[in-house]
Amino acid sequence: MALEKINTYIAGLYTDITTRTQYMNETELKEFVPVVDDDVARLLKMLLYLTRARRVLEIGTSIGYSTTSMAQVVKEYDGRIITVEFDEQVAGQARRNFEQAGVSDFVEVLMGDALKIVPQLEEGFDFIFLDVDKRLYAPLLAECVRLLKKGGLLVAEDTLFPVIDLDQKWHHLIAPIEEFNHLVSKHEGLASTVLPIGDGVTVAVKK
Ligand SMILES: C[S@@+](CC[C@H](N)C(=O)[O-])C[C@H]1O[C@@H](n2cnc3c(N)ncnc32)[C@H](O)[C@@H]1O
Repeated sequence: MALEKINTYIAGLYTDITTRTQYMNETELKEFVPVVDDDVARLLKMLLYLTRARRVLEIGTSIGYSTTSMAQVVKEYDGRIITVEFDEQVAGQARRNFEQAGVSDFVEVLMGDALKIVPQLEEGFDFIFLDVDKRLYAPLLAECVRLLKKGGLLVAEDTLFPVIDLDQKWHHLIAPIEEFNHLVSKHEGLASTVLPIGDGVTVAVKK
């Protein structure tokens, strides 16, 4: 399949909703780790509408584009998102963005290292979005499975790093993603697949 042509066509169908470019342009801070592509944001929204997930955990906030996209859905049925970030500067910008988007009441930012915070959370999440340093994916997998309810979804971003045309500066993250992909695909407690959207998105349901 001619993936680029397909992606351009799909993007052309959705030009009337807020795009990541718009969101980033309206953000004062200009230095931050990349945020999800628009098609990934649409997938997150769709999965939330589908599952009506009320307790959502996001690991990796940055300036809050994916959080805002998800919060716009969960606010419709009074769900809540906990999002974890260790960089004060991007978290500050994310909070301002939540305020501007009218979703602050539905989002709680937990500041600190995800490796320390996530193991302290109580189980019972309906939905987890994993989009942190790729080297943490494998170490956090068991915790994500513990935190999810049965039937809950784990969505992980950038899982096609091993096969996409990736900037040299991210090559050190290929091996950690390979490890995560191997663990997820073989995990007996999860039914999963990898979707070729954005830089690859793993969707896994806890059996
Ligand atoms: C790819 S960005 C998240 C993008 C965001 N989900 C979006 O699409 O709008 C990853 C974020 O994880 C944060 N991060 C990296 N390592 C972390 C850690 N150990 N604990 C908490 N946050 C971390 C980075 O500061 C960065 O802002």
